Amino acid sequence: MALSQPGPSREGWSSRTAFILAAIGSAVGLGNLVRFPAEAGANGGGAFVLFYIGCVILIGLPVLLSETLIGRYGQAAAPESFRRVAEKSGKSPAWEFVASLGVLSAFLVLSFYCVLGGWVLYYIGIFVQDLFTTGVTGGAFADRSVTEVEAIFGAMISDGPMTVILNIAFLVITIAFVARGVSGGIEKVAVYLMPAFFVLLLGITIYGMFRGSMAETISYLFTFDASKLTGPVMLAAVGQAFFSLSLGVAGMVTYGAYVGRNVNLGVTSGVIATADTSVALIAGLCIFPIVFAAGLAPEGGLGLMFQTLPHAFQEIPAGSLIGLAFFVMVGFAALTSSVALMETPTAWVIDRFRFTRPIAATMVTLSAAILGTLCALSTGALSGFHPLGFLPMFEGMGMLDVLDTFTGKITMPVGALLTSIFIGWVANKRLVDSENGLGGGLHVFWRFLVCWLCPIALTAILIVGIFPSIL
Ligand code: PFF
Repeated sequence: MALSQPGPSREGWSSRTAFILAAIGSAVGLGNLVRFPAEAGANGGGAFVLFYIGCVILIGLPVLLSETLIGRYGQAAAPESFRRVAEKSGKSPAWEFVASLGVLSAFLVLSFYCVLGGWVLYYIGIFVQDLFTTGVTGGAFADRSVTEVEAIFGAMISDGPMTVILNIAFLVITIAFVARGVSGGIEKVAVYLMPAFFVLLLGITIYGMFRGSMAETISYLFTFDASKLTGPVMLAAVGQAFFSLSLGVAGMVTYGAYVGRNVNLGVTSGVIATADTSVALIAGLCIFPIVFAAGLAPEGGLGLMFQTLPHAFQEIPAGSLIGLAFFVMVGFAALTSSVALMETPTAWVIDRFRFTRPIAATMVTLSAAILGTLCALSTGALSGFHPLGFLPMFEGMGMLDVLDTFTGKITMPVGALLTSIFIGWVANKRLVDSENGLGGGLHVFWRFLVCWLCPIALTAILIVGIFPSIL
């Protein structure tokens, strides 16, 4: 059987570095800076963090390689790429439903992700205003108690019109890059913004090391207490690994489709996963010392970053300037991820309906704005609306939390589970082997992970996570 790639290659990344930076840009985002500390805090620290690292290495990494491999072989939007691999392997094209589920999940994540992106814009606005009114020190957060700083966040998220407008603003910034295409828009944002992001993150972490409670943080984040490793904690950790690596939503299949044949996917997957996980851990080491030093509770949830860091910045010389730099950096990271989230459904609309890129991106943006409005209002006017409240897993949750939980704890793990089964058991072995760039023992180990460990572990974690009472 000829296993050459189907069709002509289409528009792609201009270089291997551009792909790596774009994929890291997709992976590194609010998931690392906001969701990781929030989930670590909500799930008791060390046990969650260490299990999460294990999930990244043993489940996330093999699935990441599987997704990019499918995309590069297929050279098309995610469902079409799955179909091409399935057909070439003599299997049913219906396997494309795995990617269709992924495209839908990416759209759902986009819808709430840009709401959080909007919150970041608000904070950028506050720091800019401070610079003009009070100079580099002082400003909105200065001389305020922790509770007062928390109140600023509370007031923002309950201001319906404000959060709706901010959400739309973030979507508009995102479409500005997606509409320009891969090398013209998406790549540019990653190549310039990601290096700037790393420099800023390191600077702020070094500051935290000198100022905050580092010893307490290390023991909180890295002490393994097996009794805390319940089914829901394991599901939260595996879900965080997928959310953070942008897996199970066809996002990496989509980016993989723009990769040239000269790129070794095994090596690049390792680079992407290492960079992403390091940023999450650094974010933890950056945020928790300040949380502990301020006497705040680590379970602060999504607001952790918005409440603790501004409080810390108020005490630093030139706090407004550093605060501004920090939130601009968070905004960059969020943007390179929202671009990936929008690209996934946009590429599908282009492939499926043959619309032009700007039209496809506009359709996705309008739909995300509608669903995003419900998410934006769910922290204020619609806080009493609990869409899936009748299910224990979603009890008491508004739209934003429902979509976050539904994608992070159900559709992403399920998408990744099906992808590992597809690559491990359905796709032609020769096709897979010729694409993965792995040799020797590493190759054998990777096959063991995708064929056995990923499907079995993911099924078990999904069951004990969703139905904890069976343990
Ligand atoms: N990985 C991103 C983050 O950690 O913020 C979120 C994300 C981006 C998920 C792109 C999925 C995706 F396709």
